Amino acid sequence: MRISGQAIIAEIAPADRQAMIDLHRHIRTVTDTPIYPEYAQANIDFRLYEKNWATYFDNKAAGKKDLALKATLDNRIIGFARFSTANPDDPKLLAIVKDGWAELHWLYILPEYQGQRIGKQLYQLAKKHAADWGCRQMVIEAYRDNPTTRKFYESFGLKIASEVLSHNIRSERAFDIPSVRFVEFNLG
Ligand SMILES: CC(C)(COP(=O)(O)OP(=O)(O)OC[C@H]1O[C@@H](n2cnc3c(N)ncnc32)[C@H](O)[C@@H]1OP(=O)(O)O)[C@@H](O)C(=O)NCCC(=O)NCCS
Repeated sequence: MRISGQAIIAEIAPADRQAMIDLHRHIRTVTDTPIYPEYAQANIDFRLYEKNWATYFDNKAAGKKDLALKATLDNRIIGFARFSTANPDDPKLLAIVKDGWAELHWLYILPEYQGQRIGKQLYQLAKKHAADWGCRQMVIEAYRDNPTTRKFYESFGLKIASEVLSHNIRSERAFDIPSVRFVEFNLG
Protein backbone atom coordinates (compact mmCIF):
# COMPACT_ATOMS: atom_id res chain seq x y z
CA MET A 1 0.00 0.00 0.00
CA ARG A 2 1.20 3.47 -0.82
CA ILE A 3 1.74 5.63 2.26
CA SER A 4 0.76 9.18 1.46
CA GLY A 5 0.73 12.67 2.81
CA GLN A 6 -2.52 14.49 3.41
CA ALA A 7 -5.01 14.45 0.55
CA ILE A 8 -6.38 17.87 -0.40
CA ILE A 9 -10.16 17.95 -0.78
CA ALA A 10 -11.75 20.60 -3.01
CA GLU A 11 -14.87 21.21 -5.06
CA ILE A 12 -14.67 19.90 -8.61
CA ALA A 13 -14.47 22.78 -11.08
CA PRO A 14 -15.75 22.93 -14.67
CA ALA A 15 -12.10 22.80 -15.78
CA ASP A 16 -11.84 19.31 -14.23
CA ARG A 17 -14.69 17.95 -16.33
CA GLN A 18 -12.75 15.79 -18.82
CA ALA A 19 -10.35 14.57 -16.11
CA MET A 20 -13.35 13.51 -14.02
CA ILE A 21 -15.04 11.72 -16.92
CA ASP A 22 -11.81 9.77 -17.54
CA LEU A 23 -11.25 9.02 -13.85
CA HIS A 24 -14.87 8.00 -13.29
CA ARG A 25 -14.72 5.65 -16.24
CA HIS A 26 -11.43 4.15 -15.05
CA ILE A 27 -12.44 3.71 -11.40
CA ARG A 28 -15.77 2.15 -12.27
CA THR A 29 -14.14 -0.17 -14.75
CA VAL A 30 -11.78 -1.52 -12.11
CA THR A 31 -14.12 -1.48 -9.11
CA ASP A 32 -17.70 -2.05 -10.31
CA THR A 33 -17.45 -3.81 -13.65
CA PRO A 34 -16.38 -7.17 -12.14
CA ILE A 35 -19.81 -7.24 -10.44
CA TYR A 36 -21.67 -6.77 -13.75
CA PRO A 37 -23.00 -9.70 -15.78
CA GLU A 38 -20.50 -10.90 -18.38
CA TYR A 39 -22.32 -9.49 -21.44
CA ALA A 40 -22.45 -6.05 -19.79
CA GLN A 41 -18.77 -6.10 -18.84
CA ALA A 42 -17.86 -6.31 -22.51
CA ASN A 43 -20.32 -3.64 -23.67
CA ILE A 44 -20.20 -0.72 -21.29
CA ASP A 45 -21.58 2.49 -22.75
CA PHE A 46 -19.01 5.01 -21.62
CA ARG A 47 -21.04 7.97 -22.89
CA LEU A 48 -22.98 7.65 -19.67
CA TYR A 49 -20.14 9.31 -17.76
CA GLU A 50 -20.24 12.32 -20.08
CA LYS A 51 -24.00 12.61 -19.48
CA ASN A 52 -23.61 12.26 -15.72
CA TRP A 53 -21.05 15.04 -15.50
CA ALA A 54 -23.07 17.25 -17.88
CA THR A 55 -26.05 16.82 -15.54
CA TYR A 56 -23.88 17.68 -12.55
CA PHE A 57 -22.58 20.92 -14.05
CA ASP A 58 -26.11 21.83 -15.25
CA ASN A 59 -27.37 21.32 -11.70
CA LYS A 60 -24.61 23.52 -10.35
CA ALA A 61 -25.40 26.25 -12.89
CA ALA A 62 -29.08 26.05 -11.86
CA GLY A 63 -28.09 26.55 -8.21
CA LYS A 64 -29.22 23.09 -7.09
CA LYS A 65 -27.88 21.52 -3.91
CA ASP A 66 -25.56 19.14 -5.70
CA LEU A 67 -21.86 18.98 -4.88
CA ALA A 68 -18.90 16.96 -6.18
CA LEU A 69 -15.61 16.94 -4.28
CA LYS A 70 -12.22 15.68 -5.44
CA ALA A 71 -9.35 14.35 -3.36
CA THR A 72 -5.94 15.32 -4.74
CA LEU A 73 -2.60 13.87 -3.74
CA ASP A 74 0.72 14.82 -5.33
CA ASN A 75 -1.24 16.85 -7.94
CA ARG A 76 -3.23 13.78 -9.00
CA ILE A 77 -7.00 13.40 -8.49
CA ILE A 78 -7.25 10.07 -6.69
CA GLY A 79 -10.89 9.99 -5.61
CA PHE A 80 -14.18 11.85 -5.63
CA ALA A 81 -17.64 12.01 -4.13
CA ARG A 82 -20.91 13.49 -5.32
CA PHE A 83 -24.00 14.09 -3.24
CA SER A 84 -27.16 16.17 -3.52
CA THR A 85 -30.51 16.73 -1.92
CA ALA A 86 -32.87 13.98 -3.00
CA ASN A 87 -36.49 12.98 -3.41
CA PRO A 88 -37.70 9.83 -1.69
CA ASP A 89 -38.73 7.04 -4.06
CA ASP A 90 -38.50 3.95 -1.89
CA PRO A 91 -41.46 3.09 0.35
CA LYS A 92 -39.23 1.26 2.83
CA LEU A 93 -37.00 4.30 3.18
CA LEU A 94 -39.94 6.70 3.29
CA ALA A 95 -41.11 4.90 6.40
CA ILE A 96 -37.91 5.75 8.28
CA VAL A 97 -36.52 8.85 6.59
CA LYS A 98 -37.98 12.17 7.65
CA ASP A 99 -37.75 15.78 6.50
CA GLY A 100 -35.01 16.79 4.10
CA TRP A 101 -32.58 14.15 3.01
CA ALA A 102 -29.52 13.91 0.88
CA GLU A 103 -28.19 11.12 -1.28
CA LEU A 104 -24.56 10.16 -1.68
CA HIS A 105 -24.37 9.18 -5.35
CA TRP A 106 -20.71 8.39 -5.89
CA LEU A 107 -17.75 7.80 -3.63
CA TYR A 108 -14.70 6.35 -5.31
CA ILE A 109 -11.05 6.08 -4.43
CA LEU A 110 -8.48 4.72 -6.89
CA PRO A 111 -7.61 1.18 -5.75
CA GLU A 112 -3.94 1.99 -5.12
CA TYR A 113 -4.99 4.78 -2.70
CA GLN A 114 -7.71 2.89 -0.84
CA GLY A 115 -7.34 2.13 2.86
CA GLN A 116 -5.79 5.53 3.73
CA ARG A 117 -8.95 7.07 5.17
CA ILE A 118 -9.45 9.34 2.17
CA GLY A 119 -12.90 7.82 1.59
CA LYS A 120 -13.70 8.56 5.21
CA GLN A 121 -12.67 12.22 4.79
CA LEU A 122 -14.93 12.58 1.73
CA TYR A 123 -17.77 10.84 3.54
CA GLN A 124 -17.50 13.13 6.56
CA LEU A 125 -17.47 16.21 4.32
CA ALA A 126 -20.55 14.93 2.46
CA LYS A 127 -22.34 14.63 5.80
CA LYS A 128 -21.30 18.13 6.83
CA HIS A 129 -22.50 19.72 3.57
CA ALA A 130 -25.78 17.80 3.72
CA ALA A 131 -26.32 19.08 7.29
CA ASP A 132 -25.53 22.64 6.14
CA TRP A 133 -28.20 22.24 3.45
CA GLY A 134 -30.69 21.44 6.21
CA CYS A 135 -30.86 17.70 5.53
CA ARG A 136 -31.48 15.37 8.44
CA GLN A 137 -30.44 12.08 6.82
CA MET A 138 -28.34 10.83 3.96
CA VAL A 139 -29.12 7.74 1.89
CA ILE A 140 -26.39 5.68 0.26
CA GLU A 141 -26.93 2.90 -2.25
CA ALA A 142 -24.18 0.33 -2.73
CA TYR A 143 -23.88 -2.95 -4.56
CA ARG A 144 -24.78 -5.76 -2.16
CA ASP A 145 -21.95 -7.98 -3.33
CA ASN A 146 -19.18 -5.42 -2.85
CA PRO A 147 -17.82 -6.39 0.59
CA THR A 148 -15.40 -3.45 0.88
CA THR A 149 -18.16 -0.91 0.44
CA ARG A 150 -20.33 -2.63 2.99
CA LYS A 151 -17.49 -2.78 5.53
CA PHE A 152 -16.77 0.89 4.88
CA TYR A 153 -20.34 2.01 5.68
CA GLU A 154 -20.70 -0.46 8.52
CA SER A 155 -17.54 1.04 10.06
CA PHE A 156 -19.61 4.22 10.61
CA GLY A 157 -22.31 2.19 12.35
CA LEU A 158 -24.70 2.20 9.38
CA LYS A 159 -27.04 -0.73 8.89
CA ILE A 160 -28.80 -1.89 5.77
CA ALA A 161 -32.22 -0.22 5.66
CA SER A 162 -33.51 -1.68 2.43
CA GLU A 163 -32.56 -4.05 -0.41
CA VAL A 164 -33.25 -3.09 -4.01
CA LEU A 165 -32.32 -4.03 -7.54
CA SER A 166 -30.24 -1.28 -9.08
CA HIS A 167 -31.27 -0.81 -12.70
CA ASN A 168 -28.26 -0.25 -14.91
CA ILE A 169 -28.30 1.08 -18.42
CA ARG A 170 -24.58 0.90 -18.94
CA SER A 171 -24.79 -1.44 -21.90
CA GLU A 172 -27.25 -1.99 -24.74
CA ARG A 173 -29.05 -4.54 -22.59
CA ALA A 174 -30.09 -3.08 -19.26
CA PHE A 175 -29.30 -5.22 -16.22
CA ASP A 176 -30.19 -5.28 -12.55
CA ILE A 177 -27.68 -5.61 -9.72
CA PRO A 178 -28.69 -6.52 -6.16
CA SER A 179 -28.02 -3.45 -4.04
CA VAL A 180 -28.45 -2.25 -0.49
CA ARG A 181 -29.39 1.13 0.91
CA PHE A 182 -27.91 2.56 4.05
CA VAL A 183 -29.30 5.57 5.91
CA GLU A 184 -27.01 7.91 7.84
CA PHE A 185 -29.02 9.56 10.62
CA ASN A 186 -26.13 11.35 12.27
CA LEU A 187 -25.25 14.24 9.95
CA GLY A 188 -23.99 16.75 12.38
C1 LIG B 1 -15.43 2.10 -0.36
C2 LIG B 1 -14.30 3.13 -0.53
C3 LIG B 1 -14.86 4.47 -0.99
C4 LIG B 1 -13.60 3.30 0.85
O1 LIG B 1 -12.61 4.33 0.76
P1 LIG B 1 -11.19 4.15 1.48
O2 LIG B 1 -10.47 5.44 1.44
O3 LIG B 1 -10.49 2.97 0.90
O4 LIG B 1 -11.63 3.77 2.98
P2 LIG B 1 -11.05 4.36 4.34
O5 LIG B 1 -9.57 4.13 4.38
O6 LIG B 1 -11.52 5.75 4.54
O7 LIG B 1 -11.74 3.38 5.41
C5 LIG B 1 -12.57 3.83 6.49
C6 LIG B 1 -13.00 2.61 7.28
O8 LIG B 1 -13.75 1.71 6.43
C7 LIG B 1 -13.40 0.33 6.73
N1 LIG B 1 -12.79 -0.27 5.54
C8 LIG B 1 -12.39 0.37 4.41
N2 LIG B 1 -11.88 -0.53 3.53
C9 LIG B 1 -11.96 -1.74 4.12
C10 LIG B 1 -11.60 -3.06 3.71
N3 LIG B 1 -11.05 -3.32 2.52
N4 LIG B 1 -11.82 -4.10 4.57
C11 LIG B 1 -12.36 -3.87 5.79
N5 LIG B 1 -12.74 -2.62 6.23
C12 LIG B 1 -12.53 -1.58 5.41
C13 LIG B 1 -12.42 0.38 7.89
O9 LIG B 1 -13.16 0.25 9.09
C14 LIG B 1 -11.84 1.78 7.79
O10 LIG B 1 -11.47 2.32 9.04
P3 LIG B 1 -9.98 2.06 9.63
O11 LIG B 1 -9.04 2.70 8.67
O12 LIG B 1 -10.02 2.74 10.95
O13 LIG B 1 -9.80 0.58 9.73
C15 LIG B 1 -13.21 2.61 -1.52
O14 LIG B 1 -12.76 1.35 -1.10
C16 LIG B 1 -13.71 2.50 -2.95
O15 LIG B 1 -13.63 3.45 -3.70
N6 LIG B 1 -14.21 1.30 -3.32
C17 LIG B 1 -14.65 1.02 -4.68
C18 LIG B 1 -15.79 1.85 -5.14
C19 LIG B 1 -17.01 1.74 -4.29
O16 LIG B 1 -17.45 0.64 -4.00
N7 LIG B 1 -17.54 2.91 -3.89
C20 LIG B 1 -18.72 3.02 -3.09
C21 LIG B 1 -19.93 3.24 -3.97
S1 LIG B 1 -21.29 3.72 -2.94
